[in-house]
This record gives sequence, C-alpha cells and structure tokens, in this order.
Amino acid sequence: LTVAVLISGAGSNLRALLEAASDPAFPARIVVVGADREASGLAHAEEFGIPSFVVPWRGGDQRAEWGDELLAQLDVWQPDLVVLSGLMRLLPPAVVAAWSPRLVNTHPAYLPEFPGAHGVRDALAAGVTETGASVIVVDDGVDSGPILAQERVSVLPGDDEHSLHERIKPVERHLLIDVVRRIAIGELDLDLAAASTP
Ligand code: GRF
Repeated sequence: LTVAVLISGAGSNLRALLEAASDPAFPARIVVVGADREASGLAHAEEFGIPSFVVPWRGGDQRAEWGDELLAQLDVWQPDLVVLSGLMRLLPPAVVAAWSPRLVNTHPAYLPEFPGAHGVRDALAAGVTETGASVIVVDDGVDSGPILAQERVSVLPGDDEHSLHERIKPVERHLLIDVVRRIAIGELDLDLAAASTP
C-alpha cells in the first residue's frame, strides 16, 4: 500500500509513521509527504529520504485553487491512501470527492466529541476527565466521517493544552499506524467503512 501523508506542523505523528514504515515487514510505504506551508515536519521526510511537496496556502479565497494544486500533486504520486496527520486545513470538496474514502485523518479527541481545530483546548474547557484520539475517514464535514479507530485518554488535574496534547499524540500514533496496517492487509475496508455511516 502506498501512502501520502499531509502535514502542517511538527509532524511528530508523521515521524512515527515513517519509523513504522521503515520496517520492511510493515505492509505500507510512505511515498510522499505534502504540506500547506514550509512545515517543520518536512525535515522528517528528508531524514527518511522521502520526497515532499508544498502547496502554499494563500488565503481563504484561494481555497479552490489550493485544492486543485493539491489534486495535481496527488495525481503525480498516485498513492493508494492519503493520510492527514496534523494538516490544519479543511480540504475543499473537490479533494474529498476525488480521494475519499482513501483519505483518513487523525484527530486529538474522542469524536464525535470536540471536533474542529481546537479539540484538545475544547476538551479542557469542557472540564471532562477523559478525552481521546480518533482516526476517521475524511468526508465533507469537519471531523464528521466514519470512525475507524479511537481510544480514550485521561485528562489529568493540572493539564494544560500542551501536556494533554502530548499525552494524546502517542495514542493517535499507534491508532494511525494500526489503521494503515489494517488497510494495507485488507483487514479494514474503507469502502465498507464509508458505506456504513448512517
Ligand atoms: C495531531 O494531534 C493531529 O491530530 C492534530 O494536530 C496534531 C499534529 O501534531 N490535527 P504533529 O504535527 O503530528 O506533531
């Protein structure tokens, strides 16, 4: 299974995937890393000798054009699966239409709880004692697609957004790696998962 990973930030989840995929026994290969800016996480791709591309975000009124540039890049690489791992961008409908359900995303909350760009902050603000991590199929909504895997993560007294997010990320990583592995070996059927949403 060939995989493209899209990031916006530090790419710690990307790094975990790169490390997992560097094991010859792992059934998936990361063939390209993309970003919507000169994300620091692109350094991980370079370290692992994986090609990368940047489709710079040029503002909200350029969303459709940005999406077309992203589609053009993905057409070059023709991955079997696109993984959003810290891409802080809502994909334009044309991208979702072209790639879902071979398009999965990690989210640092127990969806459908706390969707959106501030899931960790929102969980803290809500005062919950546990939140979680989720891997979903990307659909046209915001973190609203079929859930492929999720796991609870405790919120500890004294947690701030950073400490809680750092506790969530390792859980996200192992969920993501396991979902990619299960898709690669045919144990997880994305068409079935996407079709089964109410
Ligand atoms: C991850 O928690 C991801 O789910 C969220 O942003 C974070 C990205 O972290 N969208 P990193 O860039 O992988 O370190």
